[in-house]
Amino acid sequence: MIGVHIIAPEETWSIRAGILWPEKHAGPECALDGDGDPSTFHLGAIYRGDVVSIGTFMKADQPDYPGVLAYRLRAMGTITSHQGKGCGAALIEKALEVLSGRGVERIWCDARHVALGFYARQNWDIVGPTYEVPLRGPHRRAFKLI
Ligand SMILES: CC(C)(COP(=O)(O)OP(=O)(O)OC[C@H]1O[C@@H](n2cnc3c(N)ncnc32)[C@H](O)[C@@H]1OP(=O)(O)O)[C@@H](O)C(=O)NCCC(=O)NCCS
Repeated sequence: MIGVHIIAPEETWSIRAGILWPEKHAGPECALDGDGDPSTFHLGAIYRGDVVSIGTFMKADQPDYPGVLAYRLRAMGTITSHQGKGCGAALIEKALEVLSGRGVERIWCDARHVALGFYARQNWDIVGPTYEVPLRGPHRRAFKLI
């Protein structure tokens, strides 16, 4: 069984390095500005005691929507052996529950092209042009009203 729980920032480092940022080593170099902010939370999907999927949720206005209480999803990833098994979807579902409880109105992210299908499957809207993020490839904005 997979459960989704709040995890510590350091527990994201291994998947950030292994799945998202292969040029980095799992350690402090995987930290993001804002990881430790009181409003930030990190979710992990846990299978048999191991974190197999992660996502970080930071309070941040969606560009073009100032003043609307919003969170940005950062560094979402599922380890290769567990992709396609519902971990990411479960993690997003839990995040929406937490955010809804905080009165948040929208969630957004800069999504890699390879992951756009995942966000579309979670009923997020994909908007705006494709833009290139150095080292990471083409991205588009994705968001969902809560
Ligand atoms: C994208 C990612 C986070 C999805 O996580 P996951 O745990 O594999 O997703 P799930 O198994 O919960 O998938 C939920 C649904 O989305 C679909 N889906 C998952 N990834 C998809 C993709 N890249 N494209 C299209 N559909 C996708 C699944 O088939 C599933 O569909 P279903 O509801 O019909 O069964 C994961 O594949 C990953 O880590 N990829 C590499 C890193 C990455 O690109 N991260 C995103 C950065 S923006």
